Order: sequence, then structure tokens, then C-alpha cells
Amino acid sequence: MFTNEELLAADALKSIARDQQIKKYIQQSSDLYPLLLRAANRFVSGETREEGIKKALELSARGYMVSLEYIGENTKTIDDCVYAKNEFLALIKEAGSQLTETTVSLDLSHIGLSVDSDLAYKHIDELAREAKRLNVSIMISMEEAAKTDKILDVYKKVSEYYRNVGITIQAYLERSVTDMKELLHYPGKVRVVKGAYQETEGVTIPRSQNLNERYLHLVDLLVQANHAVSIATHDETLIREMHKRDYLSLPHVEVEMLYGIRPDLLKQLKEDHFKARVYLTYGTEWYLYLCHRLAEYPPNIYVAIADIVNPSDSDQNLY
Ligand code: FDA
Repeated sequence: MFTNEELLAADALKSIARDQQIKKYIQQSSDLYPLLLRAANRFVSGETREEGIKKALELSARGYMVSLEYIGENTKTIDDCVYAKNEFLALIKEAGSQLTETTVSLDLSHIGLSVDSDLAYKHIDELAREAKRLNVSIMISMEEAAKTDKILDVYKKVSEYYRNVGITIQAYLERSVTDMKELLHYPGKVRVVKGAYQETEGVTIPRSQNLNERYLHLVDLLVQANHAVSIATHDETLIREMHKRDYLSLPHVEVEMLYGIRPDLLKQLKEDHFKARVYLTYGTEWYLYLCHRLAEYPPNIYVAIADIVNPSDSDQNLY
């Protein structure tokens, strides 16, 4: 689907995404940071909670549901984990009082998993309690394959007490069908994604018809079990297939897309009266997020260059 050069660029972007030195350099550079932020603005609502909530309210007024995330991952110190947890707490309070059917999405490694699983559990438990009180859902993202077991363990433990916490499953992982069969016994919504990380060979299935079939199989399992599901993809062929199977009109099924990606497709789904959710991020840690968005669709590199030179009105009026 992509040229060799595009695939090479995608691989390079995935590896620089994980390079802490490059990340630090960009964040501290008074020239590079604002330039790259212009490219990130296509995919990120802004750097502050206020900007995130403002964009969420606009989308909500247009008939979309939203997921909100304060971007970050792999937090290394307890103080920084507590800071991130408190930011999510403030987000839950604001989203809960101003928006309906809102999800707050997070990486467990942002709030403690990279320090210790118990810290991540303590924080997600506190967030889930407040979210439940305010009728907000929480969705746990899925990270690198090395963390999958730990993330699933924390999810299973927290979902013994809270039905408002969901989990993300990556179709590209060889293990996902087995994981999914187990997750059907837990109450939380399952968000099905293809998977975004660069893993060692043999751990994941590359983008292919085979991966699409597996994606559909995972959604089939959820739909047949009457389990709440978020179909989180921009793949029009997959969405068309699920429409053909009459999944999209089921009350427990929604389609969720990243802000700035295929707004035309999500808008069409909303206008056709299907449940459409926009995944909206904010924060200053947008570097990894931007790299992922460019790597998964290398033509975005051209768009990023154009945005840097000529910053777009990133309001994304296309919604
Ligand atoms: P695929 O990559 O095959 O793309 C299909 C088509 O969609 C492309 O041909 C193109 O038309 C369009 N498209 C896809 N990406 C695009 C882009 N960046 N720009 C423009 N067009 C694009 N991953 C993960 O590992 N853990 C997680 O927790 C999450 N969470 C998450 C939540 C939500 C709501 C979404 C939508 C996605 C994630 N992801 C994720 C990312 C996910 O794994 C995957 O990398 C992206 O969704 C892209 O894959 P697609 O399913 O869109 O298919």
C-alpha cells in the first residue's frame, strides 16, 4: 500500500519516537519545539486542559461523543505519576460536569506502571471512583507488548469494583484472540485497535488482509457476546464490512477515531446516526503521539511539512 521509501520513513519515525534524547532535545529547543508543534496541532487539541475541554465541547455540540486524554507515558518518578494522576482527576471533574457520555483515556505507564504496578492500580482505582461518581468512563490504552500482561492484570483487578473502566486490545498481537476470550468475562468496554508500536519480529502481524480478518474476528466475539465495544479504526473497508454486518446500529457499539484523522468518514457515520466518538488529546508530551500519526500513514509527513511552513487553521472544520 505504501512505497518502500514511505515504509523506511515510517520505521525511522517509530524508532525516533522512542528515542528519549531526541525527545528531550526537541522539548528543550526554543526553535524546534514551536515548529513541530505546528505539525502536532493537526492531531492534538492544544497544550492545556482548557484547550482540550473547549474542543471537546465544540465536538459535543456537533453531535460527537469524545474521549479525552492528557498525553503522556512512561512516567519515571512517583512525584510525576502523582502529578499526572491529579491532572486526570481534574480532567474527570471538568469533563463530568460539562460533557455527557465522556471517556477519559489514559496509559497506565503515565500514572504509575513504569514505577510499580501497585502504584498504577492505586491511581486508577482513585480515578475510577471519581469517574463513577460523575458518570465518566475510563479507557485504558494498550502499550508495548512487554507491558501487556501488567496492563491486563491492573485492568482485571480494577474492573472487579468498577464497570466504568474499559480496556484496549491490539489486533496485531498474536495473543489477542486468547486475551479477548478472557476479557469477555469482565464488564468494561473493549476498544479494538490494530496496534501502533514497533515490536520485535514475530510478536505482531503487519498491516494486511490477515490483520483485518483478525480485527473483524475480535469485534465478532464482542458483538456476539453483547459486550460494549469501541471500533477504533480509520479503515474504511473494515467499517464498511461492519456496517454490512449491521454492527454499527447496535446500542453497545460505537466507532471511535483519532482527532484529525478521517474526519470526513466519522462525520458521515454521525450523520447516518451511528455513535461516533472523537479521541482528543492535549498536553505538552505530544512528540511520541505525532511520530505515531506520521509513521502509520507516511503521506502525513508531507502534510506535517506543509503545516510547519503554513500552519493550518487546525480547528478541523471538517467535523
Ligand atoms: P490502518 O493503519 O491500516 O489505516 C487504514 C486507513 O486509515 C489508511 O489507509 C488511511 O486511509 C487511514 N489512516 C490511518 N492512520 C492514519 C493517519 N495517521 N493519518 C491519515 N490517515 C490515516 N494503538 C495502540 O497500540 N494502543 C492504543 O491504546 C491505541 N488507542 C487508540 C485509540 C483510538 C480511538 C484509535 C482510533 C486508535 C488507537 N491506537 C492505539 C492506534 C491504532 O493502533 C492504529 O495505529 C491507528 O488507529 C491506525 O490504524 P487503522 O486502524 O486506522 O488502520
